[in-house]
Amino acid sequence: MNEALARIEWVYAADSAEDLRDRYDVWAEVYDRHVQEALGYTGAQRAAAELARLLPASVRVLDAGAGTGLVGAALNALGFSRICAVDLSPRMIGQARAKAVYDGHVVADIGHPLPFDPEFDAVIACGVFTIGHAPARAIGNLLDVLRPDGLLCLTLRADSTAVRFHEELSRLETLKRATRPEFFPPFRCFSEDTGSTSLQIVLCRRPGSGAGDIGP
Ligand SMILES: C[S@@+](CC[C@H](N)C(=O)[O-])C[C@H]1O[C@@H](n2cnc3c(N)ncnc32)[C@H](O)[C@@H]1O
Repeated sequence: MNEALARIEWVYAADSAEDLRDRYDVWAEVYDRHVQEALGYTGAQRAAAELARLLPASVRVLDAGAGTGLVGAALNALGFSRICAVDLSPRMIGQARAKAVYDGHVVADIGHPLPFDPEFDAVIACGVFTIGHAPARAIGNLLDVLRPDGLLCLTLRADSTAVRFHEELSRLETLKRATRPEFFPPFRCFSEDTGSTSLQIVLCRRPGSGAGDIGP
């Protein structure tokens, strides 16, 4: 468990997107063993279940910061099959590909405009908007690839390190690029004994006809 927790601190300490990519490339092969087996990570399942509560499994989903594909695997187990993975790290995407749960695998930095049309019914980003990871401006890039009324589902740390993401969500709401975000109660994404900070799921939509509510 200590080795797994040390890896998390190590990726948090990345000082650029290139540095983060290189660190995840190194971690990729043992990520699932560390995060799922040693730490008992449930964040991916929780976020996938929230998406499934709101949308039918027939929709097209972008898994942003897909990593080794834990969110894709959880969505797939819930019946979703039209899921595209995008991640900064080629080796993390390689692990995701091996799970055979995605119909697309793209290496890209979500801090830059993405190589997609506004074609997705939902974008999910789990564990991606956190310390040393994706910049707040990436939230707007994810909204841009949603269809009107499309759903954005993020996880954020439930502590002061997430303030810049809250501010960006407010800014995007003011600009009418996003509906008012709905913040869910914090939950522990790792087993009790890790002492880790809680996460919370955040939902909003790209405004479209009749935008304003989160519900289906
Ligand atoms: C903690 S992992 C989470 C992976 C997966 N979503 C999960 O829940 O297991 C964070 C992932 O986000 C990716 N990531 C971080 N910043 C990114 C960026 N700017 N663009 C694309 N991917 C990014 C990392 O490469 C890594 O695979």
